[in-house]
Amino acid sequence: MFRKLAIAATATLALSSGSAFAAGAYDTHIEDFDFSFEGPFGTYDQNQLQRGLQVYTEICSACHGMKFVPIRSLAEDGGPALPEDQVRAYAENYEVFDPELDDFRAATPNDHFPESSLENAPDLSLMAKARAGFHGPAGLGINQFFKGIGGPEYIASLLTGYTGEEKEEAGVILYENTAFPGGWIAMAPPLYGDDVEYADGHEASLEHVSEDVSAFLMWTAEPKMMARKQAGFVGVVFLTLLSVLLYLTNKRLWAPVKGKKSS
Ligand code: HEC
Repeated sequence: MFRKLAIAATATLALSSGSAFAAGAYDTHIEDFDFSFEGPFGTYDQNQLQRGLQVYTEICSACHGMKFVPIRSLAEDGGPALPEDQVRAYAENYEVFDPELDDFRAATPNDHFPESSLENAPDLSLMAKARAGFHGPAGLGINQFFKGIGGPEYIASLLTGYTGEEKEEAGVILYENTAFPGGWIAMAPPLYGDDVEYADGHEASLEHVSEDVSAFLMWTAEPKMMARKQAGFVGVVFLTLLSVLLYLTNKRLWAPVKGKKSS
């Protein structure tokens, strides 16, 4: 039995280290950005989400869609929390196809963001959760255990990770990027710094703009994170109280029996 187990374990290790080598061969680098929503009590920064929305709208939406995100969620508490009238005005920037009218019309808050307009640009709604950021020595995932999954860190590292090198392969121009697995991505550098002008006067350096849009994409991927953390916290407090009460009840129930023994 033990030998069988040992053989199985060795085989698994051998297999996984094989794939880890394959994954680690490109040596990608993910920077550990500090986001406000990290940690058990972290929350989204409303101003940052609004800035990220601006970056998405002015730059990324030219190619990428977010078809799983309802536009009305921009008004939700815990998100960018835009006033209703601004959300309505924002929705009108987009055109959607209405099967009832059999024609295009301006979007309303009840519509979703459009799909990607560029065929090979992936939808960004859930990207921050679809991509893991950190791996660790030989792709073991130890860093993920300590630093979190790192989706927004991956996106921010991707946006700041261009080296400036490019090459053409089978008619496609590829750009060298230190965060992208494989090292060469088909997305031209979308940001250079000073790409947007923030209304709140926040500095629009390449790093800031990348962080803001990554935080925004984290929110689109997990809009209820704050409610989830809060529910978790209430749960832990409740269970702690319950444990104390049960312990005391247990003591009391057994007191007569234990008391006899010691006397
Ligand atoms: C000119 C069109 C264009 C613009 C603008 C653009 N992208 Fe992309 N993006 C692409 C394409 C094309 C790909 C697919 C690249 C590939 O798979 O090699 C991509 C891929 C991505 C990926 C996925 C990388 C992966 O791991 O597969 C992310 C994340 C991303 N873009 C984020 C952004 C953000 C954020 C912005 C705005 C700051 C943006 N993009 C602006 C064209 C664009």
